[in-house]
Amino acid sequence: MRVLLCSGKGGVGKTTIAAATAVRLAELGYRTIVLSTDAAHSLADSFDISLTGHRQPTAPNLWAQETDISKTIETYWGIFRTGWQR
Ligand SMILES: Nc1ncnc2c1ncn2[C@@H]1O[C@H](COP(=O)(O)OP(=O)(O)O)[C@@H](O)[C@H]1O
Ligand SMILES: [Mg+2]
Repeated sequence: MRVLLCSGKGGVGKTTIAAATAVRLAELGYRTIVLSTDAAHSLADSFDISLTGHRQPTAPNLWAQETDISKTIETYWGIFRTGWQR
């Protein structure tokens, strides 16, 4: 598995680059999930579809998701705080 992270200040093109990269990787045959962690999501706008916090099939080999960061922290913070229990 490989993780590509697009970071930078607001408005520099992170979402656009992430969406375009994900589409290209999916076209090349890589099973790809593109997900936004920004509280002000715009990934769905890039694809002109609706997205939720759960991954959604978007094109062949491509899934997309707009993570609800508050909900994720609420759900997993305890695990991070106390360490992974196996
Ligand atoms: N290479 C580019 N050239 C011109 N405009 C761009 C380019 N990349 C993104 N944009 C536009 O800039 C704005 C911000 O892009 P976005 O991907 O939402 O940035 P970020 O996710 O970093 O906030 C959008 O309106 C987008 O269409
Ligand atoms: Mg963005």
